Amino acid sequence: MNPLSRTRAFFPVTEEIAYLNHAGVAPISTRVEEALARFVSEATRRGALHYDRFYDAEVERVRNRAATLLGARPEEIAFTKNTTEGIGLVAAGLDWSPGDRVVTCDLEYPSNVYPWWNLQRLGVETTLLPGQDGRLPLEAVETALHEPRTRLLALSSVEFGSGARNDLEALGRLCAQTGVLFCVDGIQSIGCLPMDVSSSGIDFLAADGHKWMLSVEGCALFYCATRVIDAIHPRVVGWRSVTDNTNFDDYHLNLQSGAGRFEEGTPNTPGIFALGAAIDLLLEIGVEEIEARVLELNDRLVDGLQEKRAHLRSPLGDSDRSGIVSFTVAGEEPRRTAARLRREGIFVIERRGGVRASPHFYNDDDEIDRLLRAL
Ligand SMILES: Cc1ncc(COP(=O)(O)O)c(C=O)c1O
Repeated sequence: MNPLSRTRAFFPVTEEIAYLNHAGVAPISTRVEEALARFVSEATRRGALHYDRFYDAEVERVRNRAATLLGARPEEIAFTKNTTEGIGLVAAGLDWSPGDRVVTCDLEYPSNVYPWWNLQRLGVETTLLPGQDGRLPLEAVETALHEPRTRLLALSSVEFGSGARNDLEALGRLCAQTGVLFCVDGIQSIGCLPMDVSSSGIDFLAADGHKWMLSVEGCALFYCATRVIDAIHPRVVGWRSVTDNTNFDDYHLNLQSGAGRFEEGTPNTPGIFALGAAIDLLLEIGVEEIEARVLELNDRLVDGLQEKRAHLRSPLGDSDRSGIVSFTVAGEEPRRTAARLRREGIFVIERRGGVRASPHFYNDDDEIDRLLRAL
């Protein structure tokens, strides 16, 4: 018996669909539904009467929980509206000089390419390293980091198309050795694979809640290590960026010492309520247990796909695997395969030339078998 099967009851989506698209937009649990209902009920019945103990208290509680999830300190966490905003805070906030270089790769989602390209007007060059068979070889990164004027490495924890897991500890070590900043797009792993920003030497990390964290869209986490906080000039500042920010009478621009300085105004409180309940569930189960279960489901999927002679596009080495399995079926466009599966109630999607399946801990073996049978 799978020890996580008890969690299935939190996901009514299972009554209708084999939902295997957590790398896209995930469904929410009844725990998140209840947290949102709690927020709506309070806002409807009492408005902001208990702002301190209802709104503010939950925002700070969730900041603490998010810090635990990432291995960070609460003062290193800011809430943003999405992953892109977090990456943008770094791109727009660092003090660039013409000739500075950012290193990323051609497996990345556009959100981790365009913010760097957008610095071209400041003379910043972006090196787009070529991926090989869906993964980025560490040696290529090492060479690029030694190039003169390399300031920052921007990579995802897991590549969105192939599902290749990047070795964050090794990359973080390389960055530390070469004095390069390390900025991670964590959206394809946070909530599914363990994260420890401190042991990985990550300087900045951004991740939205609507994928593996199983929350709603529009509320994301941004981590900024204390050691580099002053390296980023906040792109936008407002009443909430400063110390003593409920004193609206005496103007001053003393920025908060922590990442709260990046929250310029009123936060997305319903989003934070949802994210809090989602993170509570992840921490209750344990991210290591979640990882083990997701990899077990993906092993089953990979074995079945190999038996059916499907072409696997995800790297399969022990250290490369993640929540994503990408494949193609001989003689069929991935878009058609994905559409066919969706018509049969199996939610997968086409990305980067493959059918992308991305189960989470509450999926069961039968859902994987349904996908295999439908092929
Ligand atoms: C790796 C990666 N980064 C970023 C995003 C988008 O992030 P957001 O919409 O939160 O900015 C996605 C969405 O698919 C993604 O896969």
